[in-house]
Amino acid sequence: MQTKIENKNIVLGVCGGIAAYKSVELLRLLNKQGAKVRVVMTQNARSFIGPLTFEALSGNPVCFDLFQNIDRKNDASIRHIDWARDADVVIIAPATANIIGKIANGIADDALTTLMLAVTAPVLLCPSMNTQMYANKAFCRNLSTLRDDGYFIVEPEAGELACGDSGPGRLPEPKDILDRLLYRLAQKDLKNKKVLVTAGPTREPIDPVRFISNPSSGKMGYSIAKAAEHRGAKVVLISGPTNLLDPINVEVIKVETAKEMARAVFERMEDANIIIKTAAVSDYRPVKLEKQKIKKGKDEISLFLKKNQDILKELGRKKKDQILVGFAAETENLEINAEKKLAEKKLDIIAANLVNRSSSGFGSDTNKVVLLYKDKTREALPEMLKDDLAHILLDRIVKIL
Ligand code: CTP
Repeated sequence: MQTKIENKNIVLGVCGGIAAYKSVELLRLLNKQGAKVRVVMTQNARSFIGPLTFEALSGNPVCFDLFQNIDRKNDASIRHIDWARDADVVIIAPATANIIGKIANGIADDALTTLMLAVTAPVLLCPSMNTQMYANKAFCRNLSTLRDDGYFIVEPEAGELACGDSGPGRLPEPKDILDRLLYRLAQKDLKNKKVLVTAGPTREPIDPVRFISNPSSGKMGYSIAKAAEHRGAKVVLISGPTNLLDPINVEVIKVETAKEMARAVFERMEDANIIIKTAAVSDYRPVKLEKQKIKKGKDEISLFLKKNQDILKELGRKKKDQILVGFAAETENLEINAEKKLAEKKLDIIAANLVNRSSSGFGSDTNKVVLLYKDKTREALPEMLKDDLAHILLDRIVKIL
């Protein structure tokens, strides 16, 4: 069920808006994912950015005129029909009020609008314009027509605009447009499912400026939350402190300590059909929280620690008809230790990884795990991106469902 855009044919339509510069970055991101991108520009877009930039970055000629190259006796004059036929997906970013009005009314008076009449693949429209234009009644009518016609609208962000006004109208960042593209293309095999994910480390305070923690980056959990959202689930992400941006359309609950994480998890567990615990929870917390900063003094001091509740074990005890997945962070005896945790915590799946390796350790973008299942079967997966592992894990969960 993985959403991959590797080798997909993407047509990127660029219109004449100040945000046109962002479509260069979008093109680079799509390239990086292995997509084959062809760019179609409107006449006005060329006032903001030159076709040569897109040509150099996409490695393909840029189409900006229905009749371009016609005198060179090649097929450029019908390029828009070929491109429409070949497209796996079309993205128009930025999409101006003008192009939205034209597409909504079936007008085809340039290369991009003509191509749009011939496209049968999914289309993402990323409107970007002045706030007043975005609120204009005729524009809203056109946008709503396109929504009803099945076009996927990537809503603009609110904020300060290039024209000085403030409000909705700003083109989302290219990484967010890519995220919505993956969402649009993903199979919705987790529709109507509620997924609860925990991620990141916990922090157990010692005094007002110090704490016990671990180097968990939260990346694995955030990748799973994102992937589940793409597949149609309603996702709650309970996260310890991380530097990561909240995934789009996911409810994020921020916590610090293991106690706070436990409270949040138990409050939300009833609702969830699937619970995936990637969080690296501190097993112990200081017995006493010093009110003031501990001052330097003796050469040696002791810190007394008390065991935290094992959240996952408690979930295993309380769970009803839910799928429970844990992650075992090990430095030795990987499968023996993980097997113990699978049984003790009454899990359906445990993903066991060696955290003392750079390719599967804390903070890495990749992970290498062995999946151990309740029925005693095992699956050793190769090293891969955490984003990809997230989808594989969800594939296995969907099978159990
Ligand atoms: N976990 C939890 N609450 C804790 C400790 C761990 O919910 N207090 C969960 C983790 O989120 C993970 C799984 O249990 O999904 C395994 O965590 P791990 O740290 O590998 O193992 P521990 O159970 O803490 O055992 P140990 O530290 O002895 O390896």
